[in-house]
Order: sequence, then C-alpha cells, then structure tokens
Amino acid sequence: MNTLFKKLTARKEEGIVRTLRANDGKIDFSSNDYLGMATSPVLAASIEQTYQQFFPHPVNGSGGSRLLAGHFDFYDQVEKDLARFFETEAVLIFNSGYSANLAILSTLPQKGDTILMDEYIHASLKDGARLGFASRFSFRHNDLEDLESKLKKAQGAVFVVAESLYSMDGDFAPVVQLQQLTAQYGAYLIIDEAHTTGIFGEQGRGYLQEKKIADQVPFKIYTFGKAMGIHGACIAGSQELKDYLINFARPFIYTTAMPPHAFASVHAAFLHIQQHSDQKNELLSNIQHWSTAVKGVSGFSSNESPIQTYTYPGNQNIRALASYIQSKNYDVRAILSPTVKEGSERLRICLHAYNTPQEISTLIQLITAFHE
Ligand SMILES: Cc1ncc(COP(=O)(O)O)c(C=O)c1O
Repeated sequence: MNTLFKKLTARKEEGIVRTLRANDGKIDFSSNDYLGMATSPVLAASIEQTYQQFFPHPVNGSGGSRLLAGHFDFYDQVEKDLARFFETEAVLIFNSGYSANLAILSTLPQKGDTILMDEYIHASLKDGARLGFASRFSFRHNDLEDLESKLKKAQGAVFVVAESLYSMDGDFAPVVQLQQLTAQYGAYLIIDEAHTTGIFGEQGRGYLQEKKIADQVPFKIYTFGKAMGIHGACIAGSQELKDYLINFARPFIYTTAMPPHAFASVHAAFLHIQQHSDQKNELLSNIQHWSTAVKGVSGFSSNESPIQTYTYPGNQNIRALASYIQSKNYDVRAILSPTVKEGSERLRICLHAYNTPQEISTLIQLITAFHE
C-alpha cells in the first residue's frame, strides 16, 4: 500500500498535497465565471425554457454515445447555430474542453507527423499529444524564433499548438504572427480559445475573430465552462474535420453524450451572450480598474485580460499569503510549483464582471499590506 501511494506521501511531506474545498461564499477572485453567467437567474430561466420547448417529455440522460442512442435532432441544430456564430463551416460538441483537446491532438496528427507545442499549453493538449503517435516537441513560450527553428526541422504534416490566452499568466499568444509563420511553412495551426470564448471578439466570438484571422486558422477549440458559465466545448473547422472526428476521435465515440439539458444550456448561453453585451463591458472596465490600481507596484501583472497574477516566490510564502487573503473573505488561490516554474509561484487572480471596483482595490491593498 505504502509503495503504491508513495508519491502522495511525498506530496504530503512537502506540504503541497491537493485537496477539495467547497465554495464557501467568499468574494470570488478565483472562478473562471468571468461574466457571472454561471449564476445568472436570467440564463437559468432561459435554459429551463429551452429544455422544455425541445424536450416536452423528460429525457434526463442522453442514453448513449452520439453514434448510438445519444443523438437528437436538437443536437444538430445547436451545432449548426454554433457554426454560424463562430463563422465556420461546422462544429462538433464534446463533453468538455479536456475531451475536445484529447480528441483533436490524438486523432489528427499521425505517425511520422510532428506536433510543436508552446511550452505553456494546457495539460489537456499535452495529454492529447501523448495519446497519439506523432513526434512532439515544445517551443519556448510565445517565442516565434524558437518555433521557426523547430518548423525548419519538422517532419511530415506539422501541427502548431497554442492558446489564444494563457490560463496561468493571463498573456495572449501572438496569434497573427503564429498564423503567418505556420502558413509560411505549410503547417496547421490549432488554437485553444478556452479563456477568450465569450469575452473577446464580436459578441464573444473569440480572440482570433477579434484579430480577424479566425477563418485562416483551420482548427479551433471553444470551451463553455469558463465565461459561458455552463459546460462542454466544441471543435470548430470544416465539415470534413467534423466527419473525421465523428469517425476517429475516441473521446467522442466512446463516451455517453451530454444530456439534453446540457445542450439546452449551450443553446441558451450562446443566445444570452449575444443579448447581454453589458456583462462584457463591466468586465473590461474592471480590467481597466485593476491595471490603473497596480501600475508601478511590483509583483502584480497588468494584463489586458481577466487573468492577473501576483508573484511571490516560494510555495510556503504563496500559501501563507493566500491563507491570509482568504481569512479576509477573498477567494484567491495559490499556484504552486511544479504547476508553475519554481520561483514564479503566484496568486492567480480572476477578475469578473460582478466584482466591484472597491473589492478589487481592497484585494490589492490586502496583498501589499501582507508584506508590511
Ligand atoms: C486552456 C484550457 N483548455 C482546455 C481546458 C479544459 O476545458 P474544460 O474545463 O471544459 O474541460 C481548460 C480548463 O481548465 C483550459 O484552461
């Protein structure tokens, strides 16, 4: 037994063991619910109404994989609507961003092909690459020169993988240059828009749409569990891509489809986002407030995104700081090494449309006061 769990024992000894903690009503600077849609009563009512409209008789579960009993006409309709929204030919919905990323990276690149990944991409993309048979290499974060040197040596079909907005640092990828560079080398670009869906671009169509290159990026992942406030994800691209994934993507084929209620949530959440631009404006104004308040104060990031950080090296230090802030009723979480590089341990601070400027200012004061 001891040998079986020795990694856990080591973690406990180091004081970095992970545990589950229920949400206890503290002021939220931690969730990915950037726009407050996860707790919106308006959205809740609209989800219920959509479900009842399209499923007049209860269908609590989908009953199987989408290739078997778990598919409904309504699911096709939701995907068609989403394809229109994301200005793409087709989308395929997955049960989560994690399974969408596993699917695309384990299914598209073949033996003899090459995957080039930004070193900071999400674990789900790295896991997807590990499941497949292509060779995989990392390039330095947002470093186009390093990427180009690797593009020159890459074999077979080449896939370059990046996120439009990085979830640990809150910085953007240079997506325009990435698109140009991959096109120059005939490589395929895969962009994960998890943290930009619903916030950036026209009515939340994502960062690539904002930069006017969405149609030039063949493979995009949009997730629904962050700013959209619900659950699930889709891969967007051509109809051929969709057909290919339906045929070969194991995380799509070998799992029970999301239930009708979850598809009703997707339908309602995307209508909601198109009708409530006020949420996005409040978020952008809070990001602006943060940037002004932290200007010139060391340790704080000043990103043009809802994800901010306060760096305070050392796992023990950052845990002590997080506990102190939590004791003041503010929910912030410490990000420890090895999740981030040693020496860059930090608080990850998510800004939301529903945080008040006063809460943001108090949080910054609490962090600075901790050192005094
Ligand atoms: C960049 C990125 N991609 C994908 C995912 C996974 O998405 P989901 O939470 O829907 O599984 C996450 C969430 O943690 C993420 O941050």
